[in-house]
Order: sequence, then structure tokens, then C-alpha cells
Amino acid sequence: MHVKNIRLINFRNYDNLSLDFNRKTNVFVGKNAQGKTNLLEGIYICATGRSFKTNRDKEIINFSKKEAYIGANVSIGEYERFIEIKMERDRTKRIRINKTELKNYKELNSGLNVIIFSPDDLKLVKEGPQERRNFLDLEISQLKPIYSHNILRYNKVLFQRNNLLRLNKFSKNIEELIEIFDLQLAKIGTDIILERQRYVEEISKICKITHNKITLNKESLELKYISNIDILKDKWKMEQNYIDLLKKNRKKDIENSSTQLGPHRDDLYIGIDHKELKTYGSQGQQRTAVLSIKLSEIELIKDQKGFYPVLLLDDVFSELDGERKRYLISLFKDIQTLITTTDTTDLKELKDIEKSVFNIENGNIK
Ligand SMILES: Nc1ncnc2c1ncn2[C@@H]1O[C@H](COP(=O)(O)OP(=O)(O)O)[C@@H](O)[C@H]1O
Ligand SMILES: [Mg+2]
Repeated sequence: MHVKNIRLINFRNYDNLSLDFNRKTNVFVGKNAQGKTNLLEGIYICATGRSFKTNRDKEIINFSKKEAYIGANVSIGEYERFIEIKMERDRTKRIRINKTELKNYKELNSGLNVIIFSPDDLKLVKEGPQERRNFLDLEISQLKPIYSHNILRYNKVLFQRNNLLRLNKFSKNIEELIEIFDLQLAKIGTDIILERQRYVEEISKICKITHNKITLNKESLELKYISNIDILKDKWKMEQNYIDLLKKNRKKDIENSSTQLGPHRDDLYIGIDHKELKTYGSQGQQRTAVLSIKLSEIELIKDQKGFYPVLLLDDVFSELDGERKRYLISLFKDIQTLITTTDTTDLKELKDIEKSVFNIENGNIK
């Protein structure tokens, strides 16, 4: 799959940009704060419906304007899709695919898959479980739109249950009221946990191989989904078990006015040679592990969708050592890649690659 072109109107520091991409490698060179990351953000939003920089769409609209527009033509196998996103200050964004408006912007399934490499990637290892859950949710949603629908429903029920816990702490029939929410939480929660577990199992198989390759068999990388709900083969039993757990924990939940158990408290374990990477890994090991995970996602998308995703490399290329650069470059012949850099020496390393080079200056591209 590849992005053919993009149009950005009043989007961050772009007034009105129309740009055709090379279907192989695209290099964007520019000083700091010229709009390199903004351009990648535009493409990312076309794929996932949301930004990797912010949850507030308003920030994306040009400071002095009321609305912003992104339009992109993408080619996915034999299909062409025209993805359009309109953001206004006082309403939720609207998304159209081939001129048909989506009912719920969170259900965007543009068919476009992207993988982004950015300096923020280390957060996946270093920060708290929320970061890793977000990562799983985003990646699974890119493969299965129904999953993001389940996450939405789960969060809604969780929010209602927590409200109930807070507002009716002292009412007599609180337990009865909560029961209804427990049944729903357990049903949707079971689906979410199983889906995450399946994803982690698949990605971890690929990760093992990738990590062996880039560390020349020196380290073994292990990923595991860690749930506070027992994962059982029998889905029905798992759900029953889950309901019982919620029931057992109800008194505590009422006391704390919050729901202690469920996929919203789960985590993804990332380990190297049987030790948790977050605590015991060096900075270098952490970087390499994240790179392996990202590279493995590329393969997983290829396996499941039949096409390679579009790669977005934001300011990371010049940071990689020779071995890792060569590995990435070896992928570029099959995959559309957008690279941003401040450093023109990157271009020398890409001299044998089919590419277009663009200069970005203050929201203008040449
Ligand atoms: N909503 C907005 N409206 C106008 N300009 C914006 C908006 N959001 C960010 N910018 C500008 O975009 C620039 C940063 O762009 P960015 O793509 O992050 O730069 P870089 O080239 O370093 O990756 C800054 O100059 C910032 O002021
Ligand atoms: Mg940047």
C-alpha cells in the first residue's frame, strides 16, 4: 500500500499544501520547527483517525483558523481510497472515505496502515502500563476495526460503573445496580483480553526472530500479555470466572469508588534474556528492543493484510548505527517510506535507493 498524495489546509503550520509522494522513499529535509513532523502526523491521522502528538484535535487546526482539512489518496492493492478529514473548533471531526461520511470517527478503517518510528518510541518500555495498553489498542485497531469499537464500549461501561460506585456509595441497592454493569464489563472485557493475548502471541513469535537477526543471536526478546483476569481456553468459563471476580471485589470497588479489575489495568511484559527490560535493560538494549517490535509489526501487517504498511521515520534514521540502518534500508525497496531529517548526510546513505527529496521550510515544501 502507498499514499499517492496529500492535501493539507490550515493544518498546523501548513496553509494549503498539495504534494505527490514517491511510491518508494521520500526524504524531507528541514531545520527544526519547519513542519516535518506535522506532515507525518497528517498521514498518521488518515490511517488511524487520531494524532500521535495530541488527543485534542483543536491543537491541530492552524492557530488563526477555524477549521482544518486533510485529504489523501491512498492505494491499497487494487483499491484506491480518498480519505478526507475535517476538523472544526467546536465539533467532533468528520471523516469521509470515497465521499461517504463515516458514522463514528473512531471506527475509521481507511485500510491504510502505518508504522511510525519516532524518538518517543522508548516510552513503550520506559513508561507505565497505560503506554503499552495504548500501543496494543492502536495496533490491534489497525488490523481489526471491530476491536476499537469494543474498546469504546468497554470504556463507556467502565465509566458508568465507576460513576455509580462514586455517586451511590451509600445507597442500599448498589450491589444490584452494579450487577448489570458487571455482566457487560465481563463480556466485552473478555473479548478485549483474548484479542490482546492473541496479538501479543503473534507479534512475539515474529519479534523473537527479528531480534535474533538484529542482535546477531546475542539476546532473546520476550513479550507476554499480563492480565489480572485469568485467561482460559474456554471463553464462556473465562467470562463466568471474570464475573465472579468482579463480585468478590465489589466491596473493595465500592470503597475505592473505582473498578480494580479488568483489561484497563493489564500490561504488556517486555523482557530480554528473562529479565524485565524496563528495570534491567540498558538504554541501548531498550532502543534495540523497540526497533525489533516495530520491525515485527511491519511483518505482522504484511502477513495479515497482504501488503506492507507505510513507514514513517521521524528524526530517527540518523540515530541508528550502521547495522540497523542497513537492515532498514533493505526494507525500503518493498515499502513506501517517509523519512524526516535535519541532517543531509542521511542522503548519502540512501544514494542507491529510488527516492524523492523535499525541502521543508516554514510549512512550504519544494
Ligand atoms: N496549530 C498550529 N498552527 C500553526 N502552527 C503550528 C500549529 N501547531 C504547531 N505549529 C507549528 O509547527 C512547527 C513545528 O512543526 P514540526 O512539524 O513539529 O517541526 P519539525 O520540522 O521540527 O518536525 C512550529 O513552528 C509550531 O509553531
Ligand atoms: Mg520533528
